[in-house]
Amino acid sequence: MPPKILLTRRWPDTVEAHLRQRYDVTVDPSDRPLSAAELTEAMGRYDAICPTVTDRLGAAILAAPNARVRILGNFGAGFEHIDLEAAKAAGIVVTNTPDVLTDATADLAILLMLMASRRAGEGERELRAGQWTGWRPTHLLGQGLAGKRLGLVGFGRIAQATAARARAFGLSIAYYSRRRADADVEAALDATHVDSLEELAATSDVLSLHCPGGPATRHLVNAALLARMRPTAILVNTARGTVVNEAALIAALSSGAIAAAGLDVFEGEPAVNPGLIALPNAVLLPHLGSATLETRTAMGMRVAANLDRFFAGEVPHDRVA
Ligand code: 8YV
Repeated sequence: MPPKILLTRRWPDTVEAHLRQRYDVTVDPSDRPLSAAELTEAMGRYDAICPTVTDRLGAAILAAPNARVRILGNFGAGFEHIDLEAAKAAGIVVTNTPDVLTDATADLAILLMLMASRRAGEGERELRAGQWTGWRPTHLLGQGLAGKRLGLVGFGRIAQATAARARAFGLSIAYYSRRRADADVEAALDATHVDSLEELAATSDVLSLHCPGGPATRHLVNAALLARMRPTAILVNTARGTVVNEAALIAALSSGAIAAAGLDVFEGEPAVNPGLIALPNAVLLPHLGSATLETRTAMGMRVAANLDRFFAGEVPHDRVA
């Protein structure tokens, strides 16, 4: 009998078809997030659950009595929605999907940078509302990126890929990370390591977040940090909504303490703070970082490879617990 696996959401067709050739696959065609009760019930029914960022797998669910699940094959790089300690305690292996979403997410960070600096959202809203009165020298003036400094918070794969792209726009690169990168990586990107987040915030024209989510990075960007930023600065977040204190960000964008923000992730997503929605200088996207067909397909195939190794009795490549 092939292992029974649950995909908590719909995946690209080719990946679902690939998985069906090797596993007994269940997918909810309604494609809605599962409740805690449904996830708990699934723990006793499947050999593997393949969750996404929309599934909160805490200790109460992972410690379910009579659990059959032996592996969580997460569809996504970030896994702060899974309690790793509880998974370990229950003897459940956890894998993620690094690498394959690096380019798509770095592209999106650049998209947000450009949209925020060139006021693209404002312009599109104006045009669609029929309020564009024609070209004029002072219409919707944004700011250029060439010659400015990009400050990266975290310096993993996605941050480095964002840096490589940003250099083509004439930005110089600085970063803050708990672990300093190897000299050859810094040299390749001409990246300057900065000793503190505070210094990075104070000296960057664009501050882009690339750290993991979870308790350790919660509200790293708070009122005090925003107060250090330049009034012309732009904040970009493609990491996790919890990294930013949204109330403090709304205050900073409203008062002109910073110029603009480009956000792909939100503290309470999919709910978005109405205070953000009201701000013309906030570019808001619905968590599209990895949303290309190529990338989502590659993410699914990466989960499949992890499951294949696990059920063949080998250690999956992307094991995180
Ligand atoms: C994913 C992401 O699509 O991989 C991540 O960490 O943020 C997204 O790009 C999402 O998390 C899927 O679970």
